[in-house]
Amino acid sequence: MSISRTKLTVVGAGYVGSTCAQLAASKDLASEVCLIDVVEGRPQGIALDLNQMAAVEGFASRVTGTNDPADTADSDVVIMTAGKPRTPGMSRSDLLVTNGRVICAVAEYIRDSSPDAIVIVVTNPLDSMVHLMRARTGFTARKVVGMAGVLDSARLRYFAAEATGTAARDAEAMVLGAHGDSMVPLAEHMSVAGVALGSILDAQKIDALSDRTRRGGAEIVGLLKTGSAWYAPAASAVSMAAAILRDEQRLMPTACLLNGQYGLEGLYMGVPAVLGATGVESIVELPLAAEDRIQMQKTAGAISLDLETLREAGLL
Ligand code: LAC
Repeated sequence: MSISRTKLTVVGAGYVGSTCAQLAASKDLASEVCLIDVVEGRPQGIALDLNQMAAVEGFASRVTGTNDPADTADSDVVIMTAGKPRTPGMSRSDLLVTNGRVICAVAEYIRDSSPDAIVIVVTNPLDSMVHLMRARTGFTARKVVGMAGVLDSARLRYFAAEATGTAARDAEAMVLGAHGDSMVPLAEHMSVAGVALGSILDAQKIDALSDRTRRGGAEIVGLLKTGSAWYAPAASAVSMAAAILRDEQRLMPTACLLNGQYGLEGLYMGVPAVLGATGVESIVELPLAAEDRIQMQKTAGAISLDLETLREAGLL
């Protein structure tokens, strides 16, 4: 009998990280879910709580909590959530250098102790943090991806469902580009159970849904006042981890390193990608409306500015 052990490490035991650990364990995504944080006791306490939850819920994943990077060794997938979240009035880019330093520290131990891992970055500002993670691990680009498009699309899907009186899971949408104000919701690809949204709602209403999506993270920050969203971000990251660990070949909007696709090169941003056992199996080039093509260029410009700041700070 061959026994296959799998290990998923979640870096950062804040709200996003601990919810990732809970969802991953509940779905039996890996035989070990390792939760690591710099705060002493917190990952250990959450791990104990989740292992006791297993008795009630019946999942088999074992959760370990640690402050020691050595305990993350030989991970198959790493979800990186550590870093400061936004508070009201802050843009994601305000976090650039602070969170960039955290990425550098984590990249070092992932590179050294989990050289075969596939890394999913959640830390903001997403597109530049995933770029930095790839640069600092030296991993091939297909093994380092960023989570933003699944979340932004989930927000748009919910808003479309709400506007049409249907279930969120039946609404489909694809949001590309940067995880920021310049993100690119593809109006012509929105649907409810296969029915084009444009045949149900007028263009003005669809534009309003896209606008609300662009401000989707800030809307929640404004309500919470002390931090940003965690349930949908965690679910989005775990769905990408599932696609990789189970080799599902799912088409998901993913922050990938572009190599000529969409006319862009040398930077990470959200594009449709097939995720499976090797990480990014392929990047899909959709024919875009003229307006969306222009937006993709603008969003790339916004990301380049953040990369420049990282270079000036000596991190990249
Ligand atoms: C958000 C943060 C996680 O969009 O960027 O809620």
